[in-house]
Amino acid sequence: MHHHSQSVITFHQTTTQTTMALLDQNLFHYSLLSLYLIGPPTFISLKFLQAPYGKHHRPGWGPTISPPLAWLLMESPALWLTLLLFPSGQHSTNPKALILMSPYLLHYFHRTIIYPLRIYRNSKPTSGFPVSVAVMAFGFNLLNAYLQARWVSHYKSDYDGGLFWWKFFGGLVVFVWGMRINMWADRVLLGLKREGGGYKVPRGGWFELVSCPNYFGEIVEWIGWALMTWSWSGFGFLLYTCANLVPRARANHRWYLEKFKEDYPRSRRAVIPFLC
Ligand SMILES: NC(=O)c1ccc[n+]([C@@H]2O[C@H](COP(=O)([O-])OP(=O)(O)OC[C@H]3O[C@@H](n4cnc5c(N)ncnc54)[C@H](OP(=O)(O)O)[C@@H]3O)[C@@H](O)[C@H]2O)c1
Repeated sequence: MHHHSQSVITFHQTTTQTTMALLDQNLFHYSLLSLYLIGPPTFISLKFLQAPYGKHHRPGWGPTISPPLAWLLMESPALWLTLLLFPSGQHSTNPKALILMSPYLLHYFHRTIIYPLRIYRNSKPTSGFPVSVAVMAFGFNLLNAYLQARWVSHYKSDYDGGLFWWKFFGGLVVFVWGMRINMWADRVLLGLKREGGGYKVPRGGWFELVSCPNYFGEIVEWIGWALMTWSWSGFGFLLYTCANLVPRARANHRWYLEKFKEDYPRSRRAVIPFLC
């Protein structure tokens, strides 16, 4: 009798665990599907309607907050959700998983903490950041941090594959290269902003090739991340970043041409050197 009830309890525990694991997998798969499904409508709507912050700020989008605070809040899930989820993954103590997660955390440490501090110190904001846009970005970052952190810490299964370090270092080189371009470009832009007197034509380096080298660098970073993680979640993030930043870069490019007219160098492309 005793043995029987013991095995019933074990049976219940196992089915509960299996059910939880299945729910967990479903959550992951549906989230991944959502990441792919939100890309195309984002791309299409941003072609017609620019997110109303910075150069494309316009009234009618509800209350605004200061841009550094907006960046801090909306990008923060990438840090806190990742740190919250990572320990419960089956690979959480695998050094390879920790190493793989760190470029993502490094990027978001910069974007969430350092970048807002730079904006805050360097300049008076020209316009507020709409709360509505920040809330959408916050939602995206929740979804994306969940997918990236859960993939690396739990669902990735080929840590012992022989190609791990090849993919990791290959992707890391690309990632670091992109991050350097992104940070360099943002520093140039913030330097111009600090000079005061409104928007100027940025010059030198990558700015001679494209209007938005900061977005180009960002896209290169996530190409590196897709290679490093070798995953649908990494690739989905790359596609979404392009869906978001390519239309905005095109809009910025048109904006520069309209504002500076013949003073704006005609040879520049919007975001991908020599291409678009
Ligand atoms: N992963 C993603 O999907 C994603 C999405 C969005 C942004 N990001 C990244 O976040 C960072 C900021 O993005 P953003 O859209 O705010 O970039 P941005 O429009 O280029 O602005 C960057 C900063 O430079 C200032 N600035 C821009 N052009 C200027 C000019 N010609 N003269 C003087 N000042 C100028 C802006 O001031 P104002 O604010 O007054 O315009 C702002 O403070 C970028 O590194 C971007 O790659 C990533």
